[in-house]
Amino acid sequence: MDPEGPDLIEQAALVVDGATVAWVGLAADAPAADQQVDAGGRAVIPGFVDSHSHLVFAGDRAQEFAARMTGTPYAAGGIRTTVAATRAATDEQLTSHVARLVGEMRRQGTTTVEIKSGYGLTVRDEARSLAVARQFTEETTYLGAHVVPDGTTPEEYVELVTGPMLDAARDHARWIDVFCERGAFDVDQARTILRAGEERGLRGRLHANQLTYGEGVRLAAELGLAAVDHCTFLSDADVDALRDSGTIATLLPGVEFSTKQPYPDARRLLDAGVRVALASDCNPGSCFTSSVPLCIALAVREMGMTPTEALRAATYVGARALDRDDVGALVPGRRADLVVLDAPSHVHLAYRPGVPLVTQTWVGGHLT
Ligand code: NIG
Ligand code: FE
Repeated sequence: MDPEGPDLIEQAALVVDGATVAWVGLAADAPAADQQVDAGGRAVIPGFVDSHSHLVFAGDRAQEFAARMTGTPYAAGGIRTTVAATRAATDEQLTSHVARLVGEMRRQGTTTVEIKSGYGLTVRDEARSLAVARQFTEETTYLGAHVVPDGTTPEEYVELVTGPMLDAARDHARWIDVFCERGAFDVDQARTILRAGEERGLRGRLHANQLTYGEGVRLAAELGLAAVDHCTFLSDADVDALRDSGTIATLLPGVEFSTKQPYPDARRLLDAGVRVALASDCNPGSCFTSSVPLCIALAVREMGMTPTEALRAATYVGARALDRDDVGALVPGRRADLVVLDAPSHVHLAYRPGVPLVTQTWVGGHLT
C-alpha cells in the first residue's frame, strides 16, 4: 500500500522480525525463517488505520437512527443526548464499552485507531473520557468543542475549552479537534480553539463541511492541519486549497449511509491530486459502525474509488492522517500489523460486502 511499491504481489511471502516487517517479495526469493505460516493463497493486507472514531460514550440513539430512515434529517443537537448518558456513566462502564468496540474493530481488521472525547463537555468528563481512550491508543483527540452544552453561552464555552478544559485534557491527548458546522462551532471559534491547542502542544484536526458548504475545509488548509474530516460539501476553492496544502481529506462514508446525506465525491478529490483517507467515524449518532471493510465497500460502490485506492485510503493514507509512518503499509521497517483475508485479493473487500472476510489479525508480529 506504499504508493512507491506495487499494489499487489502474487505468490508472495513476507518476513517478520520481532514486531517489524523485515522483507516482502516473491515467495521463491524469500530468505530463510525460523517459523513459517502458510496463508494458503489468501490475501494479506496491512491492518486498517481508522483515523477517526468517537468510542467513549454511553447509551445509544437507535430511535434517532430509525426516525432518520423515514425522513427526519440528522442534526448536531442529538449529541446532547449522548452527553447526558456519558456523564452519568462510571469510568468502569465507559472503559468496558470502549473495550467492546475496540474488540469489534480488531475482529474486522483495524490495528490502529484514533479515539476522540467529545461527549463529556465538562472539565472532568472530557479529561476522564481521554484517560479512558488512552488505555486503548496513543492516538487520542480532545474534542471538547463538539457542541455547546446546555446552560452556557458559546462565548463562555469557548473560554472553557481553550482554558481549564484544555489544561486538563492535554496530558491525555495528542490531537485537538473541533466540530466546525452550523449548530456547532463557526470558523472563527474553530480557529481560536485550534490555535490554543497548538500553543499547548496538541496538533489540530477538524470536522468540516459535513452538513453543508462552509469555510472549515479552507481553515484546515490555511492552518496546515494533518487532516480535515467529512468533506461532503466542497466548492472548487476547497478542493484547490486541499491540493495546495497537502491536508488530507478523510472521508467517512458510514456517516452518509446512516444519515442519508449524499456521499462525498472521492473521485473528484483524487483526480485533483488531493490525498484521501477513509475512516469509520464510529459514534452513536451519525454512524454507529466500527467496520472499515464496510467503508471500503461504500467508497468503491458510491464514491468512485478503485478497490486499491480505497484500501490505500484506509491504511497508508490513514496513517499519514495521524502523522504516522510506522504503520499502514507492508514494507520493511514498518510494524508488522497485518490482516489475512479469506479471499484471493483485496478487491473482495468491496466485491463481497457484508461478508466477514478478516480471518486473522496480526499486531506487531503477533496473532491476536
Ligand atoms: O463525526 N459530526 C460530529 N460528530 C460526530 C457525530 C456526533 C453525534 O451525532 O453524536 C460525527 O459525525
Ligand atoms: Fe466524527
